Amino acid sequence: MNDKTILRGRLLSFRREPENADDTAAFSYIEDGALVMAGGMILSVGAYADLGSDVRQAASIIDHRPHLILPGFIDAHLHFPQMHAVASWGAQLMEWLNTYTFPQEARFAELAHAERMAGWFLDQLVSQGTTTVAAYCSVHSTSATALFQAAMQRNYRLIAGKALMDRNAPDAVLDTPQLGYDETRSLIARWHGQGRIDYAITPRFAITSTPEQMETVAALIAEHPDCYVQTHLNENHYEIELTLSLYPKARDYLDIYEAYGMLGPKSLFGHSIHMNQRERAAMAASGSVAVFCPTSNLFLGSGLFDEAAMKSASVRTAIATDIGGGTDYSMLRTLDEAYKVLQLQNQKLDPYRAFYWLTLGNARALSKQAEIGTLEVGTEADVVVLNSAATPQMAMRMETVTSLREELFVLQTFGDDRAIAETYVSGKAAKNRSLTS
Ligand code: GUN
Ligand code: ZN
Repeated sequence: MNDKTILRGRLLSFRREPENADDTAAFSYIEDGALVMAGGMILSVGAYADLGSDVRQAASIIDHRPHLILPGFIDAHLHFPQMHAVASWGAQLMEWLNTYTFPQEARFAELAHAERMAGWFLDQLVSQGTTTVAAYCSVHSTSATALFQAAMQRNYRLIAGKALMDRNAPDAVLDTPQLGYDETRSLIARWHGQGRIDYAITPRFAITSTPEQMETVAALIAEHPDCYVQTHLNENHYEIELTLSLYPKARDYLDIYEAYGMLGPKSLFGHSIHMNQRERAAMAASGSVAVFCPTSNLFLGSGLFDEAAMKSASVRTAIATDIGGGTDYSMLRTLDEAYKVLQLQNQKLDPYRAFYWLTLGNARALSKQAEIGTLEVGTEADVVVLNSAATPQMAMRMETVTSLREELFVLQTFGDDRAIAETYVSGKAAKNRSLTS
């Protein structure tokens, strides 16, 4: 068995955020490239013609021509226990949570259910070309344990945590300040830093946590400064009104989180739609990340993420599916909807920037650019292979495509899991190789 694998194809990897449609210096593109992987890492990258014959002979070569080879996609916000809540009809946020979502999350108290769903969840993400996620688990410790175990089994890069919630939801999905604190501490001790796992301290949102629970969140963050923090912010008008009524002293929604020490460069704020200038400035000053979830924002009728305002305020941003408020596991479908959300505000999502966002952009938002998000030597071998002519409509449209930028836009507009020819997780081909029965 060779321990080296060479992927041959068109290699595309970003160096920085593209500034405009002509900014080809922002990325590296090698028409006939060779990516050499060993031990789960990228060992070398360059033109196929420059590979020494000794390297060729000592490796297995997988020829992916004419496909594109990119770093694996990164999804910065989604909910593991909501797979049976996706595609639930007719409700906006609070009604959707109460009617469809909390009952599904309640089922994750049972370890066997959580384990079955964890395998399915990661297999689905891999089939979509997604190789890193920041995920919410249910309130139950079992759900986090099942997901961490499934990630270890697959050597999958995962940021996740059990939700903390002690009010305004059915008893079956509530903890208490003490229980949530104790369980989070023991999950961090057991899993944070194991394999490719990071723990995210996960107060669901201010509505489902009492001030007493928020005090425990502040303590957990102070005790574990290297963990992530994830929550929801300014998603829906009624949610905002209810939140402010529960925390009447707060200047605005973000101020609640600020008061409990929750802002910072490893803090991820899902949605961040209806923001005021003060909130944007506080996010920027603390290096906090606003996570854009376009399919969810449209499906739940929540509102339009103002990316231009975030940019001009220098807020760091990420993009995500938000399964199950979101309607598709595919980051390509997510880009398509993001494009339309921005169009509605007369903003643009250039294809170079779109693919930067899915890879290096989200890696930076997660402070993981040294590990993932590029095809650079010494980073982890999480790779996606894209077939731009995967379906009849894509193949037909590709007949008139004459540039890489146009090709990326075809992928961004039409692409889904059928366009994912292969996904490599830690250097191993993993698409359609389920570990679950
Ligand atoms: N706010 C609090 N919980 C959730 C959730 O599960 N999904 C979405 N979209 N928003 C939330
Ligand atoms: Zn969410």
